[in-house]
Amino acid sequence: MSEADTRPCYWGVVPAAGLGERMGAAVPKQYLELAGQTVISHTVQRMLDWEFLQGLLVALHRDDKWWPQQAVASDRRVETVVGGDQRCYSVLAALKALGGRAAPQDWVLVHDAVRPCIRREDVESLRTGLEQDAVGGLLALPVAETVKRADTDGRVEATLDRQGLWLAQTPQMFRYGQLLDCLQVALDNDEQVTDEAAAIELAGLQPRLIAGAGSNIKITMPADLATAEAWLARGE
Ligand code: CTP
Ligand code: MG
Repeated sequence: MSEADTRPCYWGVVPAAGLGERMGAAVPKQYLELAGQTVISHTVQRMLDWEFLQGLLVALHRDDKWWPQQAVASDRRVETVVGGDQRCYSVLAALKALGGRAAPQDWVLVHDAVRPCIRREDVESLRTGLEQDAVGGLLALPVAETVKRADTDGRVEATLDRQGLWLAQTPQMFRYGQLLDCLQVALDNDEQVTDEAAAIELAGLQPRLIAGAGSNIKITMPADLATAEAWLARGE
């Protein structure tokens, strides 16, 4: 077999089955308008521009009625799957849908539908940084501020040492077989995993942190829409 035959493929997974409760809008936040398009359209369009992706699996809420109206829904590289009640179950459903197509050594990039400002150059850093990595990793940002832990009364209990602390972002990039196995084991053991890296860590492995950009925000609260719009207007 030639080297080209054994080179791993890349797949995209987009968890988009959340309800956006903290946003408190009439529609799930991924369907709110941002600079003339929905949040999810920006995100998926950017991922479709990553020509190295073989295909893209978008996990949707079982009652989603907005997805078919998105122009990106008709792209031949995009497929959908019904997600679960937590982000990790949505990701698991998408990974299972890749069964039979993705090889164990293929890379999967899991990217939140609500991070529309993801930059090409950061995705390239992630790919380059992990190309030879046995474990995989994620984009993240070193914590810049002083970090406090509060007690139940809202008073400072401790000031934490921010040295070595990072904020996890997405994409998170892991090998298909390993991610599927680790996620399945974590969920079978009732572990709370809020990102893919956490599932990999539970298996005793150490994902690599790759420095990303502050513009790669997760739209969570109403004010985040204006912030994202400003980043997009600046060409991020
Ligand atoms: N997500 C998902 N399936 C879930 C929950 C979340 O696919 N059951 C997705 C969201 O759609 C989002 C990403 O995971 O793209 C990050 O989650 P979060 O920001 O928490 O979104 P929501 O869960 O929708 O928001 P909230 O927690 O405020 O309800
Ligand atoms: Mg959530």
